[in-house]
Amino acid sequence: MTSQDSRVQSMFNRVTRSYDRINSLMTMGRHAQWCREVAQRADLALNGKLLDIATGTGEIALAARRRYPNADIYGVDFSENMLAEAREKPGAESIEWEFADAHQLQFEDESFDAVTHGYLLRNVSDVERVLREQFRVLKPGGRVVVLETSPPRGVLKLVLSAGMSVVLPLLGQLIAKDRQAYTYLKTSTLGFMSPAEVAEIMERVGFCGVEWSTKYFGTNVIMWGRKP
Ligand SMILES: C[S@@+](CC[C@H](N)C(=O)[O-])C[C@H]1O[C@@H](n2cnc3c(N)ncnc32)[C@H](O)[C@@H]1O
Repeated sequence: MTSQDSRVQSMFNRVTRSYDRINSLMTMGRHAQWCREVAQRADLALNGKLLDIATGTGEIALAARRRYPNADIYGVDFSENMLAEAREKPGAESIEWEFADAHQLQFEDESFDAVTHGYLLRNVSDVERVLREQFRVLKPGGRVVVLETSPPRGVLKLVLSAGMSVVLPLLGQLIAKDRQAYTYLKTSTLGFMSPAEVAEIMERVGFCGVEWSTKYFGTNVIMWGRKP
């Protein structure tokens, strides 16, 4: 694990308690809806097997459980505190929660029908390696579905950048008592790749049929693709 990954890991271990509240505030309550869309786009068969990486407090894995009651669902993360929070949620007992670093998954080749993740890529030190791992653990025909932030453009970029500079550290200080963690969130959001750049890497590692739909004035995006 690089020092950047260790910093991210310790930050998520610190903000666990306030994570769901701040996430819901920042997305004006839309996060839950996006998790449902991610689950739906995973397009799992009745007894399919789904891996949600960077599951955090488990919102995507739990949305997948509600949509696919008979599926085999795994939620993995490298923050033990986030996993502990996920394990406490209603419905959590029907999901396998495991520690995993997205750069090096412990699963065998071609073991999942779908891989999902929310807000993973902008936090990792090696985006291509992480996507290659997902390609490796997917069965042929399996789907990957990605929820990410997307850097705003034009006038919106100026407005949001100014707004986030004030609002995020303030929310961090008031709710998480951790101004630094939420300052990082602003920098990682505004500085992350565009969906087209992410799509290029997804295609380079082998995914096909890569498409996306932007959300919330283009600040968030859901992307999907398939292993041939
Ligand atoms: C912003 S949270 C997102 C949680 C959840 N997916 C959601 O949509 O609410 C990002 C999560 O990614 C995890 N994460 C970041 N880098 C990771 C890595 N290299 N391996 C595994 N998990 C990672 C963090 O621990 C954190 O729980």
